[in-house]
Amino acid sequence: MSQPTISDLANEDRLFPPPPAFQAAALASDNSLYREADADHEAFWARQARELITWSSDFHTTLEWELPDARWFVGGTLNVSENCLDRHVAAGKGTKVAFHWEGEPGDTRTITYADLLDEVSRFANVLKDLGVEKGDRVAIYMPMIPELPVALLACTRIGAAHSVIFGGFSPDSIVDRVNDGECKLVITADGGFRRGAPSPLKPNVDEALASCPSVTGVVVVRRTDTEVTMVEGRDHWYHELVGSASPECPPEPMDSEDLLFLLYTSGTTAKPKGIMHTTGGYLTQVAFTHKYVFDLKPETDVYWCSADVGWITGHSYIVYGPLANGATSVLYEGTPDTPGKDRLWDIVERYGVTQLYTAPTAIRMFMKWGAEEPEKHDLSSLRLLGTVGEPINPEAWIWYHTHIGGGRCPIVDTWWQTETGGHMITPLPGVTALKPGSATFPLPGIGVELVDDHGQPIERGGGYLTLTLPWPSMLRGIWGDPQRYFDTYWSTYPGRYFAGDGAKIDDDGYLWLLGRVDDVMNVSGHRISTTEVESALVDHPAVAEAAVVGASDDLTGQAIVGYVIVVNTAEPSDELVEEIRQHVAHKIGPTARPKRVIIVPDLPKTRSGKIMRRLLRDVAEGRDLGDTTTLADPTVVDAIRSSAAEGPGSGR
Ligand code: WTA
Repeated sequence: MSQPTISDLANEDRLFPPPPAFQAAALASDNSLYREADADHEAFWARQARELITWSSDFHTTLEWELPDARWFVGGTLNVSENCLDRHVAAGKGTKVAFHWEGEPGDTRTITYADLLDEVSRFANVLKDLGVEKGDRVAIYMPMIPELPVALLACTRIGAAHSVIFGGFSPDSIVDRVNDGECKLVITADGGFRRGAPSPLKPNVDEALASCPSVTGVVVVRRTDTEVTMVEGRDHWYHELVGSASPECPPEPMDSEDLLFLLYTSGTTAKPKGIMHTTGGYLTQVAFTHKYVFDLKPETDVYWCSADVGWITGHSYIVYGPLANGATSVLYEGTPDTPGKDRLWDIVERYGVTQLYTAPTAIRMFMKWGAEEPEKHDLSSLRLLGTVGEPINPEAWIWYHTHIGGGRCPIVDTWWQTETGGHMITPLPGVTALKPGSATFPLPGIGVELVDDHGQPIERGGGYLTLTLPWPSMLRGIWGDPQRYFDTYWSTYPGRYFAGDGAKIDDDGYLWLLGRVDDVMNVSGHRISTTEVESALVDHPAVAEAAVVGASDDLTGQAIVGYVIVVNTAEPSDELVEEIRQHVAHKIGPTARPKRVIIVPDLPKTRSGKIMRRLLRDVAEGRDLGDTTTLADPTVVDAIRSSAAEGPGSGR
């Protein structure tokens, strides 16, 4: 008998069925997609591929699968930019808005599908003139301006693979990624606007390129009008080249399995992995999920994913999914608190946004800023909300539902990864009854099982999340390292993809993500997930945000240490700390009561908003800190250390 291997402590029984009006109008309103996929998973995906994508030549075989290598839609050819642009313009939708772009300073651009096709074709010709050929890799290091999606699409038009490097990364990170991918060209900008000021990008590229021998050219978009050095013969201004380029550039037909892009995920210590995504399967799954998970009605919706294009969320759900589906989207350059903490709500109101897709870490920040910010604006255009990136605690879910969604919008909590390319576990909003904090069920055509330490399936309770079927947008490998691909994802549980996440399955079969298994704590032999304890902490009215870690402990193996940010109105004190500890015991049980709760001003996060628990463990165990280069704000660790030494809960 297989036993649950991670404790199941929290119990959430609120249920939100699809609102009847939403369901009546939804693209999917019953179980038929699930039934179809259950009956024949390959035939299901083949139908999606033929319905949602335009192929230059049809595929002859849906799937060739020899673990860990998948080939989807074998023999098919297509071009991604043609699917995202030309076919919509040819269908008479050239004047439809693709992007309502808004710069942080308040400047705006309205870009139609015809505009985008024109600029992508010109820039594709520029890339060719600069010597970029089919099969080459191009690095992109840019702010969130319209030229960023243009750059991605121009690469796909000529069959070059892009490798987007998030604009917040340092010169060293650029060097690692450019050299690993042997990129020929870098596309960048002088800078971008962040928190009301220009933030330079080109100087980082200049510094990096001193160590990148493969790069022969740099294209620079002028955004901030700041002074930059242009290296003669290597560097070119985007506007000069694009202005004089021809707007005719026939799309290159690509094999379904040709490389579309590389995107690097940074492990906590090891060398970043160049995740490989290919053409036909990726586009099929992102188009399918973008359409059905967001219930997209392209004629009337104004969709907004507030992620950065530098992450997979931006690739799949700002660029490729929405454009393949002919959607109208919002694209915003800056931060949510510039000039005021209501910037996002102002944008929602002005453009009449219908779907908003954001991260739990952002939602907890909005909670901390208070409901009065969204209340300044009319958010009644919203009809659906989404979350991605980490588990959403029920408290934040309910706040989002109430204060942003006005109690009427379904929330799609989407679990997936850079490696999966597209959504994997998520509700379908017209079908699934929601439980706050649960990503609910695998999508049609996706196989998920939880297993124990021996790889045996678990029917109820906590275990390791594995994927049992190949899926179209799965990663095809790690660039240059097939062995690492197999070892990382396919060797832990034979025959299965291991995602690295823990999850539990409840009595109704709902899935609850429990965070990375590396973070699971072992307290007196009980394996307790960070997610459940954090949710219980945030459930206390004084707690705005929380992160917990297991610190080694003589008595219990590991002891739970909770770092919490309290709301503005709470007075930090030893009594409050005690009350918060007891709250966790009351909510999910005494084994999960943190040994210490430390009130801190901030938490260490990566630029994409994920909490770096490794650093908190270092603090809790009094060690020197490991690598801090991926931190969004390196100064927070010092503040946390002094709180741990002297603040409430320090036991001083
Ligand atoms: C976590 C982001 C719980 C998870 C698309 C996963 C989530 C990692 C969720 C991938 C969710 C993402 N609920 N956890 N809805 N979405 N995660 O590669 O740990 O940046 O393995 O991709 O984020 O992060 P990545």
